[in-house]
Amino acid sequence: MLDQSKLKKYNQEHLSEYEKLMSSNEKEQLESKVDSLDLEFIQDLYQNLYVNRKTISDVSSVTEVKYARSTELTEQEVEKYEHKGIEAIRNGEFAVLLMAGGQGTRLGYKGPKGSFEIEGVSLFELQARQLLNLKKETGHLVNWYIMTSDINHEATLTYFKEHNYFGYNPENVHFFKQDNIVALSEKGQLVLSEQGYILETPNGNGGIFKSLEKTGYLDKMQTDGVKYIFLNNIDNVLVKVLDPLFAGYTVVNNKDVTSKSIQPKHGESVGRLVNKDSKDTVLEYSELDEEVANTFDNANIGIHAFKLAFIKQAVDNELPYHLAVKKLKQLDEDFGVVEKPTLKFELFYFDIFRYATSFVTLQVSREDEFSPLKNKEGKDSVETATADLKRKDLI
Ligand code: UD1
Repeated sequence: MLDQSKLKKYNQEHLSEYEKLMSSNEKEQLESKVDSLDLEFIQDLYQNLYVNRKTISDVSSVTEVKYARSTELTEQEVEKYEHKGIEAIRNGEFAVLLMAGGQGTRLGYKGPKGSFEIEGVSLFELQARQLLNLKKETGHLVNWYIMTSDINHEATLTYFKEHNYFGYNPENVHFFKQDNIVALSEKGQLVLSEQGYILETPNGNGGIFKSLEKTGYLDKMQTDGVKYIFLNNIDNVLVKVLDPLFAGYTVVNNKDVTSKSIQPKHGESVGRLVNKDSKDTVLEYSELDEEVANTFDNANIGIHAFKLAFIKQAVDNELPYHLAVKKLKQLDEDFGVVEKPTLKFELFYFDIFRYATSFVTLQVSREDEFSPLKNKEGKDSVETATADLKRKDLI
């Protein structure tokens, strides 16, 4: 039996109603899951992130991030950075880390987003090709770490196998899964998945560093002689994966965090890279007042390089959760399947910046480096991504 007083204390009495409709097996599963949850922590998340939610409108302590523009680098500088980058890649100083655990709900595509194909070429393949080209240029095949989640792990592995890893050496591709966290109804109550389990969703891309550590991959990187981790999103079809210029820029500046940015468009759904209390950080668009967002000049495009030593030293620190409300399928009180707005809790990878002490940012051109595939139609859609890939002769 579920502990009634505990359920009452944490606003979860509805679970007793569900329990009445369950088989003894299902009851057992529910009880052990509920026992393993920190209900107090979950209620705090609900209160702080949903009941008392607010957008960021006071940015008095926030300033523009310090940045250089790649278009203003001299020919000699570009040559110097590219040379340094190639040298570091050849020496195995970089690992590449891809965030591919997201759900891609806005795109309305069921498979892993990386397996989405544009004219027969998937997002995974677009990125693999670049690392293979780097191997030709440097003689070194970079270790590629790919974060998946419960919702797409098996499908991602299968997709890679079916496509022969796009010519990549399977020994150099390392998949690992991020963690989950429970989702809540708008009343702050745990919900049941279609299969009758407590509904959980991936815990956001900020789980990436702890998951890397848990799987032993941070230690592996260190043993391999890696000094920097290059990080990128799955959905930017123009992403330059570990381009020598940015690699060299990272090595020469040697900061805890090196970021790429672009000039945002008015009202664009992108985080703004800013400086707050002497630290670079990202103010996420979903939490930022739109008028305020429009006053900043650097959009976060999810491309960074971190010193491995910084990540190792910062990884055990806690990161804050953020809220996303998404329509998710679940069981109602009569065990029928319904789709309802549901509260998802997510960690953001850039919250680790607060533990860093040195930063540098390079603003690059949108036309050359940013075209995200987010939506089915309209802005940042299959149509715009296809046009950009063709313009760049990439498909
Ligand atoms: C993200 C950035 C935003 C930036 C924009 C640029 C975050 C929190 N926000 O927003 O600042 O301007 O990209 O395109 O990163 N992912 C996981 N696991 C998860 C959730 C996401 O691996 O649980 C991955 C996705 O697969 C994707 C990346 O993280 O590769 C970004 O996630 P997404 O949900 O697409 O973030 P955006 O809202 O587009």
